[in-house]
Amino acid sequence: MIQIKDLVKLYGSPPQTVLNHVELNIPQGSVFGLLGPNGAGKTTLLSILLGLVPKTGGSVLFDGDEVEQHLAEVRASIGFVPQDFAFYPMLSARENLNFFAAAAGVPRALQKSQIDFCVHTTGLQNHIDKRAQNFSGGLKRRLNLAIGLLNQPKVLCLDEPTVGIDPHSRNFILEAITELNRQGMTIIYTSHYMEEVEQICDRVAIIDHGRILICGHINELLKSRNLAKLSVQMDKPLPANILENLRQRFSIESINETHIEVQTDDPLTVINALSPVLTEANLGIERIHYGFKNLEELFLTLTHKHLRDNADE
Ligand SMILES: Nc1ncnc2c1ncn2[C@@H]1O[C@H](COP(=O)(O)OP(=O)(O)OP(=O)(O)O)[C@@H](O)[C@H]1O
Ligand SMILES: [Mg+2]
Repeated sequence: MIQIKDLVKLYGSPPQTVLNHVELNIPQGSVFGLLGPNGAGKTTLLSILLGLVPKTGGSVLFDGDEVEQHLAEVRASIGFVPQDFAFYPMLSARENLNFFAAAAGVPRALQKSQIDFCVHTTGLQNHIDKRAQNFSGGLKRRLNLAIGLLNQPKVLCLDEPTVGIDPHSRNFILEAITELNRQGMTIIYTSHYMEEVEQICDRVAIIDHGRILICGHINELLKSRNLAKLSVQMDKPLPANILENLRQRFSIESINETHIEVQTDDPLTVINALSPVLTEANLGIERIHYGFKNLEELFLTLTHKHLRDNADE
């Protein structure tokens, strides 16, 4: 549905590369997570996809058409929930929705039903006549989402829609997104929260300094063999001479004296080698795991940084 090829974006003078030869394929019906720390280029990428910011090079295709040449169709098909609040604080939720429905070109006859759908989806029923400026952070995020849905988009782009909100609103938003996807909407979701992306997305691209580090189905990435680790937790400390012996044969990291990790694409060979050694030393295995436990671990292996540390910079 969306194909991004060799996308480059330079900003400022001297020019700074913000998007560095980005390649992405976002299939129809997916919940696609764009995960990256502050300044990675997530908002810039969405802004180019929506035709709000010009690209420097490459191509961005929506249903096979170059976005820049089909702005009206693209904007009619994509809903956008921006990172910053995009409504009038002095107006009530209802007044905002009426205004933005007209601005989005929703036909008059459909405005009421469409606004009702957006209010229901975001759970704003009991707050509809309150001024937006008096809303909590969570309600503001939900109003932002409701406005992004007004044009009944085929694709919904959400730019960090859960920053600074209470757990109830956060869950509400994540569940609403999952339900919208179930009804057929393609979702593009930017975040620097790994857990959220793991919870709701089927595919992910991890972006850092404008480069896509990794991209694909989350389940497959967590099993990716070229970087995967076998983690073995033993019930007693591993004697130093045994560890040294294993080190000569495998790429082993000693997490602590009872826990080793072995980077390998052939876990069975490692297990076969470990088994007699552990038996001889009278050591038992408490836990064993192959692959990445979660996206955080995958990201750490790729970048040697924690995403959160990075995000808090
Ligand atoms: N209008 C602009 N002019 C110059 N530089 C910009 C502009 N907009 C963004 N940048 C720079 O581009 C880089 C990427 O910014 P962008 O906002 O796309 O990142 P992000 O991943 O959305 O970050 P965040 O998580 O903080 O929202 C940053 O270094 C930022 O300073
Ligand atoms: Mg951003």
